[in-house]
Amino acid sequence: MFFTVECKALTVCLVGFRSTGPYYGRLVGRCKVFLRLVDQNQEQVNECVEGFGVIVLGLETSCDETGIAVYDTRHGLMAHRLYSQIAVHAEYGGVVPELASRDHVRKTMPLIHEALAEAGITVSDLDGIAYTSGPGLVGALLVGACFGRSLAWALGKPAIGVHHMEGHLLAPMLEDNPPPFPFVALLVSGGHTQLVQVDGIGRYTLLGESLDDAAGEAFDKAAKMMGLSYPGGPALSKLATTGDDKRFAFPRPMTDRPGLDFSFSGLKTFTRTKILALAVDGVLADTDKADIAAGFQAAVVDTLSLKCKRAMQQTGIKRLIIAGGVGANVRLREQLRVTAEAMGGAVYYPRPEFCTDNGAMIAYAGAQRLAAGQCSDLAVAVVPRWPLVDLPAVAHSVGAEAVDG
Ligand code: KG4
Ligand code: ZN
Repeated sequence: MFFTVECKALTVCLVGFRSTGPYYGRLVGRCKVFLRLVDQNQEQVNECVEGFGVIVLGLETSCDETGIAVYDTRHGLMAHRLYSQIAVHAEYGGVVPELASRDHVRKTMPLIHEALAEAGITVSDLDGIAYTSGPGLVGALLVGACFGRSLAWALGKPAIGVHHMEGHLLAPMLEDNPPPFPFVALLVSGGHTQLVQVDGIGRYTLLGESLDDAAGEAFDKAAKMMGLSYPGGPALSKLATTGDDKRFAFPRPMTDRPGLDFSFSGLKTFTRTKILALAVDGVLADTDKADIAAGFQAAVVDTLSLKCKRAMQQTGIKRLIIAGGVGANVRLREQLRVTAEAMGGAVYYPRPEFCTDNGAMIAYAGAQRLAAGQCSDLAVAVVPRWPLVDLPAVAHSVGAEAVDG
């Protein structure tokens, strides 16, 4: 009781002194360290830390985007910067890991300076640093981990390695109307397609996943076969808007049997067969290309929608979130909205720029875990393969409350 009153008094004082200029950040940092040192009751400490919030710098370098952001648990997203390596990899038709790592090295520090300037803070105002530590390309991950871990060490602040897919999964929390727990998450990126029951941060149950290609990977491979530019997903979905999605009978894989797993490699084979049948001297007519794109997209979207509906029925949870790069797909967003609403539920998704890789989702996820007292040790460690369900739970999460399904 005495401890709680002391902590609350400290919080009120610090909030009152917010205008003390450059020393405020340092003062708050010292007080938070003090609170953790005397920590007897994590709930009480969390309640008090929440009073003045934590400000976290997030670094995302797992693949071909350098994303840097600053997130404050009291005031929300303060700044974010994104640099896409599309131009670097376009001529190779896909991501070249070594080039990705080198480009992250070039861009990380300048973007950190830009993000801090946009947020109007200096490094001494930061309470911690979050970096993507997996899954992803090992060299690319190591760049963010080295920068993040070293900067935190130099500043004497905690650092945390964030799971990239947890970043995606929590990205809808960055929006004005964040979903309360529990919810069902459809994670659709270039490397993963998963349905997850989310009961809180780190409280994840895998409901189903792709047995072969991820949805984004299938989009990229089909686009490449049609000669579309890298990255294939956005190019294919743009072309699909001009095509007839009923001309070809694309299959809806694994929808005729129970369960929540996916398989997209058959769609790739179907696409290849159609291209070979229609191409004249290796060239497809524009209408054929557009009709194949439309048929392919409709098959992926129908399959994802059906499994989402099944997952909501199976769990009895009516809130659905969509996250990951394929979540930027307009037709998928619209169809899932209709599906969820028809079931008396609701769908939540991040703005399109936070569906694809970005630093804001890493800063957000890291801030939640740092605010709960979690942090990584001093090793610069990355985990290229890392099951989401292995993450520890966060008992108390800032900004979202557990409610009944
Ligand atoms: O989440 P993300 O940026 O990176 C990974 O974690 O993999 O997802 C990238 C994937 C790529 O496969 C890309 O083609 C796909 O998301 N993607 C799309 C769209 N925008 C990005 N797929 C379909 N429609 C889109 N509009
Ligand atoms: Zn991603």
